[in-house]
Amino acid sequence: MRKAFFMANWKMHKSPHEAKAFAESFKRPQGNCDIVVCPAFPSLYASLSKDYALGAQNIYPAEEGAFTGEVSPGMLRDAEVKYVLVGHSERRSLFGENNDFIREKFQALVDAGLTPVLCIGEDLATRQEGKAEEFCCQQLDAVLKGSPLPSDLIIAYEPVWAIGSGQSAKANEVQDMLHMFREYLSQLIGSKKAVTARLLYGGSVNRDNISKYLAQADIDGALIGGASLDAEHFADLIARGCEAHE
Ligand code: PGA
Repeated sequence: MRKAFFMANWKMHKSPHEAKAFAESFKRPQGNCDIVVCPAFPSLYASLSKDYALGAQNIYPAEEGAFTGEVSPGMLRDAEVKYVLVGHSERRSLFGENNDFIREKFQALVDAGLTPVLCIGEDLATRQEGKAEEFCCQQLDAVLKGSPLPSDLIIAYEPVWAIGSGQSAKANEVQDMLHMFREYLSQLIGSKKAVTARLLYGGSVNRDNISKYLAQADIDGALIGGASLDAEHFADLIARGCEAHE
């Protein structure tokens, strides 16, 4: 059985003081699961806790050098970060990141011994054209084909129209999509790795809808934005998700 995985994406929220307050009040619920919190860079240190692992929202794919404003995988590893988001739709749409650059980032993270969490997902127009599956498989292909893979492969399916909109995707539709991804991954990277890969759903997840996702066979966890900002809500969400997954 794949261990449940819950990842908080705080985006551009929480100053170091606010992050510290979260870390002090978060109470890890019972249950065998991985919990990761991704604060903004200045709040990483203040977010440290024994109750969850640290993640980061971005990296630049180089070890060091003249890249003003950027942060390397090695720096983050030294700051206790274990996981890093790559390919989030906000990075793709607001900051022009394409599949080639996402592939570079993914590989730089694997080289540095960090675990990338690869985000994929279609926008509304692509879905309405009936091309969501094809589009997401191309995103998987572009990054994973022939790449070195982390021992813990984690992929988050986040349909763009569901992110921050309050319009979460239907659990059975997410299940169908992730099941198809697992079959596709099987061809791409081999069935052994496809079976152990953890596939997450993201997009308007909260404590009231988490259980129906985690009860599905191929949904191993969630990437949570807005509903991860409150320590009590996030802990409750994890407790319910874990229970549904068991
Ligand atoms: P949301 O964000 O939970 O606020 O929809 C999810 C994400 O962007 O990772």
